[in-house]
Amino acid sequence: MKYPKTRLRRNRQSDAIREMVQENRLHPSDFIAPIFIMEGENKKEEIPSMPEYFRYSLDLLKDELDELVEVGIQSVLLFVKVPDERKDNKGTEALNDDGLMQESVRFIKKHYPDLLVMTDVAMDPYSSYGHDGIVEDGEIVNDPSVEVLAQMAVSHAKAGADMVAPSDMMDGRIGAMREALDEAGFENTGIMAYSAKYASSYYGPFRDALDSAPGFGDKKTYQMNPANVDEALREVELDIQEGADIVMVKPGMPYLDVVRAVKQNFNIPVSVYNVSGEYAMIKAAAEKGWLNEEEAMMEALLGFKRAGADLIATYFAKAAARIIHK
Ligand code: PBG
Repeated sequence: MKYPKTRLRRNRQSDAIREMVQENRLHPSDFIAPIFIMEGENKKEEIPSMPEYFRYSLDLLKDELDELVEVGIQSVLLFVKVPDERKDNKGTEALNDDGLMQESVRFIKKHYPDLLVMTDVAMDPYSSYGHDGIVEDGEIVNDPSVEVLAQMAVSHAKAGADMVAPSDMMDGRIGAMREALDEAGFENTGIMAYSAKYASSYYGPFRDALDSAPGFGDKKTYQMNPANVDEALREVELDIQEGADIVMVKPGMPYLDVVRAVKQNFNIPVSVYNVSGEYAMIKAAAEKGWLNEEEAMMEALLGFKRAGADLIATYFAKAAARIIHK
């Protein structure tokens, strides 16, 4: 009987050897923690479709931020829930320098100056239609929306945001934003562009969290068709030309091939968004006892690194960092 000379199992014999030959690793600094903020005081509300994930009023946010910092998280991505009475078609409230987003940025930068603060730049939480742009005759109009988005970015930068993160998918918004930021003297404020953002059913729980589901239609005239990858590369290329500092692929788990393609084609930091529906799936299966939550979570996160992501925006940030930290 002939036995193999090459035995790949030799390198799998013990923890020590497995770790020594491990090709990809997760570190807490890989993670961006999304934060949901709401108006009011003394509020901490669990999002029904996102078990163990909460919306906080600003006064209760400190405990959460302390915990994130404690486990080594270095960056947060802010989203705000806007009450209906402050929503309109033009997203007017988004430009309020004393709005909840702006106030939150000032609060966090004051108490946690070293934390990298990124802000979501999009109109949907502020839009009475729940769309990422201004609606005219049932259409989401591009250029007028881009003007609002550029001003929104400046307002966030004024409040002290380190990076703005446009998640709207209007054409030309990165260039407009870069120009507006530079003109206002914020040439050091970065842009993390949601470059390849797909029209995905995996955003459902997030829309519950912010009460931002589209009031009519869907987002297919601006977010990408899940069938496409060449188009993702064109989006990324344009965003880089227009001045993006980091590009993003979103969602994550069903789009690992896109992450890989972007990483292979461009020399820029690539982030991936492990979105709300992906979080909900793992949580729900774990609740039923069908999956081991920690293992499924870590495997999914490692998959992003293996695919080529440099950064991962994930609702698992704290839980995963805690495990790595130990
Ligand atoms: C909207 C926005 C969405 C998410 C981030 N920004 C939802 C959408 O496009 O409708 C989704 C994030 C998630 O599902 O975790 N600008």
